[in-house]
Amino acid sequence: MSQQQDCLFLDVDTGIDDAFALLYACAAPQARLVGVSTVVGNVSLAAATRNTRAVLALAGRAEVPVAPGAAVPLGADPNDASAIHGVTGLGHAVLPEPAEPAHAAHAVDAIIAAARAQAGRLVLVATGPLTNVALAVMREPELPRLIKRFVIMGGAYREHGNVTPSAEFNIWHDPEAARIAFRAFGGPGGAPVVAIGLDVTRRTTIDGADLDALAARIGDRPREGALMTFLRDSARFYFERTERQSGQRFLVMHDPLAVAVALDPTLVETRRAAVDVETSGRLTTGATVVDWDGRWGRLPNTDVAVTVDAERFRAAFFAAMVRLAD
Ligand code: RIB
Ligand code: CA
Repeated sequence: MSQQQDCLFLDVDTGIDDAFALLYACAAPQARLVGVSTVVGNVSLAAATRNTRAVLALAGRAEVPVAPGAAVPLGADPNDASAIHGVTGLGHAVLPEPAEPAHAAHAVDAIIAAARAQAGRLVLVATGPLTNVALAVMREPELPRLIKRFVIMGGAYREHGNVTPSAEFNIWHDPEAARIAFRAFGGPGGAPVVAIGLDVTRRTTIDGADLDALAARIGDRPREGALMTFLRDSARFYFERTERQSGQRFLVMHDPLAVAVALDPTLVETRRAAVDVETSGRLTTGATVVDWDGRWGRLPNTDVAVTVDAERFRAAFFAAMVRLAD
């Protein structure tokens, strides 16, 4: 691993934007992807695991171990997001059945083993519900002190939710797990939660014109066909839904932004605050509650992303896709 590379471990619930995040993690020059774990969320655990292995194979990284984790949330009943990601989780895209089997280890063991093996250097990114992360910190309370950085795509901090008026999907899907994770990180000597919420992800979108421009850039490269077909067919399902809802066709780059920030924290400005998760609100279950003024008297545990350099992120994403087409 070159000095400027970060050891990356992703925990995903592979749907469409998780797939884009995986592709970015495989192609970003400053990343060495050492492992992936899967969790129920957008789709079932089995579908998320299959999709993850298939996307890694598409990126030419079938050797990256994929460790399945929780098939049900800690507290809530599974509610998928198949309306957004399609029944398979990858929209209209069809990928070959991956040859590589899933890893024998459970996600929790894989996360802890990677953190211990890369002591102090592992960057852990969660782009799905925090069920696996919660189980991992309960099993290994030292986890927040073993890793270099912990980035999540999740929450809505000054922004309205995308599942209920106050809750974002990854937190809402398993609020008990999210509460455990937020309370475990950020303590003395422990990595804080770097929270990439809807506040910033909603400002990072791509559309059909972006994909056409990418196709023009990579037209003659060896992997262009398979990559562009996947990007177009997966994104089209998402575009169709946003068009029905808003009349415009776009894809919100929730999960790729989390990976990009994990590798380049300068892409966002953050504010440190104590954050907790509502787990039993009549209207607000799954809400991420921020104590901006320190009224709780608790140590701040979270770096909340409040602004994003969207254009620099988009440029980095598409540059990575160009590399991936080689
Ligand atoms: O709210 C957006 C998040 O929920 C993304 O991670 C998306 O993949 C879904 O899991
Ligand atoms: Ca996700």
